[in-house]
Amino acid sequence: MVSIASSSRRRFLASLGGAGATMASASWLDAIGYAQGGRGPARAFVQQPRARADFNRRVLGAFLEHLGRAVYTGVYQPGSPLADSNGFRSDVAREVKELDVPIVRYPGGNFVSGYNWLDGVGPKAQRPTVLERAWNSIETNQFGTNEFIDWCRQVGTEPLLGMNFGTGTAEMAVAYVEYCNYERGTRWSELRRSHGYEKPHNVRYWCLGNEMDGPWQIGQMQAREYGRKARDAARQMRGIDPTLELIACGSSGTGMPQYLVWDREVLEECYDQVDGISLHAYYGNTQPLTGNSTARYLAMNLDMDRQIREVAAVCDYVQGLRRSSKRLWLSFDEWNVWYRARSGDAVNGRRQFAPRLLEEVYNLEDALLVGGFVNTLLRNAERVRVGCLAQLVNVIAPLVTSDTGVLRQSTYFPYAWALHYARGHVLDLRVEADTYPIRGAGLQAEFARNDQVPFVDVVATLDSQNGQACVLMLNRDLEGERELVLEWRDVTPTRVLACETLTGPDLKAFNTFEQPRRVAPQQLDAPAAGARMTFKLPARSYTVARIATTA
Ligand code: AHR
Repeated sequence: MVSIASSSRRRFLASLGGAGATMASASWLDAIGYAQGGRGPARAFVQQPRARADFNRRVLGAFLEHLGRAVYTGVYQPGSPLADSNGFRSDVAREVKELDVPIVRYPGGNFVSGYNWLDGVGPKAQRPTVLERAWNSIETNQFGTNEFIDWCRQVGTEPLLGMNFGTGTAEMAVAYVEYCNYERGTRWSELRRSHGYEKPHNVRYWCLGNEMDGPWQIGQMQAREYGRKARDAARQMRGIDPTLELIACGSSGTGMPQYLVWDREVLEECYDQVDGISLHAYYGNTQPLTGNSTARYLAMNLDMDRQIREVAAVCDYVQGLRRSSKRLWLSFDEWNVWYRARSGDAVNGRRQFAPRLLEEVYNLEDALLVGGFVNTLLRNAERVRVGCLAQLVNVIAPLVTSDTGVLRQSTYFPYAWALHYARGHVLDLRVEADTYPIRGAGLQAEFARNDQVPFVDVVATLDSQNGQACVLMLNRDLEGERELVLEWRDVTPTRVLACETLTGPDLKAFNTFEQPRRVAPQQLDAPAAGARMTFKLPARSYTVARIATTA
């Protein structure tokens, strides 16, 4: 939705006067629809985008890895009073179904690079218990591909399967596709049928490995080596099922020494055989990343915007080199806040089954930033087709289980709002907002930037089926309320259906099983519906408004 012709962009910025022109020449933010405004209210001009295609809801997917308590005691806990006849936790299944998560990536993550998918299929009594090397845990294989597919069908989501490109061969990757997607009459399809799955699973989206540039990854590779393996495997996989959507491994983060170089070299080897490339990013409010500054922290979704633009530029560069007519899409298949449970016992399973790993406790400021990430993904949905919040349950997750129930962490709410209400196409927004400075001195290189950050970050969607708009608004001002004037063009709001906000006096507040609603949405007074609507966004808040329109 941000693909605005640069001439109209320039005209728009010129119409904003001096401040806008400064921003136009000085900041890349104009490319995502922002111009510097004065000290008054922020203004957002909302109009229909030129391309009116609906955004792909897969951009709001999630991730489930065999890691810690994500699978075992997260989604699967046979013997628990909360489990159904399949052993699936019904309370978790209910939450995920209610969320309406469009796609879930599985089984890893780092786990996948040592995983033999054959260990997780067939009669459960015959499945091996193995020492899992990515997280040093015990893996019983009682939950595997078929259980995952059953669970996906139950919660109404689509599977996105990862392949082992670490210890795994291209042959086994191709066999996995045959096992899942081939109708009948061949070795692997008949094996699936003998396991009780007569019909193919028809899994469409596949990740060709995970973070293969990372020194922590089992079977880490050089870019060209990986790119050639991906090319070979992808070609064979398409021979089995030409409808596959294949995602190559991009750099595992902007901090990698080979960031973008890896992506270029991989794509130079396999551009013609793949459809998308992966991006991963984790963020935190730490001394090296933000200087422990919440103001810098809440600007981190703009770092995600940047990463998207940079990786897209590499894709387009290789497209040009190859004179290809195919434009790759991006799969931001791991993103989240993750910085507290990231070392020591939090990442070492100590050879236990379902250990407590990566159990990050999320507070209000994390939730506000997750709202920012949702905004970034939506405004880039024209290029980012798949996105996965990493992860879904227990492990760096919005949902946490105990033996007796499930807790919604603070980050649940912004994610849930987008899943529930963002529908249809992403509207074209041009925002004029007051800004605050961020400084790069002393920060880790990838975050060390001097820049101006808009106090207000906003996206909007419009569902042409029912005429409902959804506006998602982040106020990064830690001290004061900010006004945001929405000026609607080509769409006329007729009624505000609901308006809720996530805010509070304590940015470090978090939910627990004892106090599950310390961070929870509150109703917010909304302006009357009309062509010009002024929202009063509380200090440090993320707000959703649902609006009926004449569209
Ligand atoms: O999501 C946790 C881990 O982060 C994943 O296993 C890996 O891909 C990434 O480094």
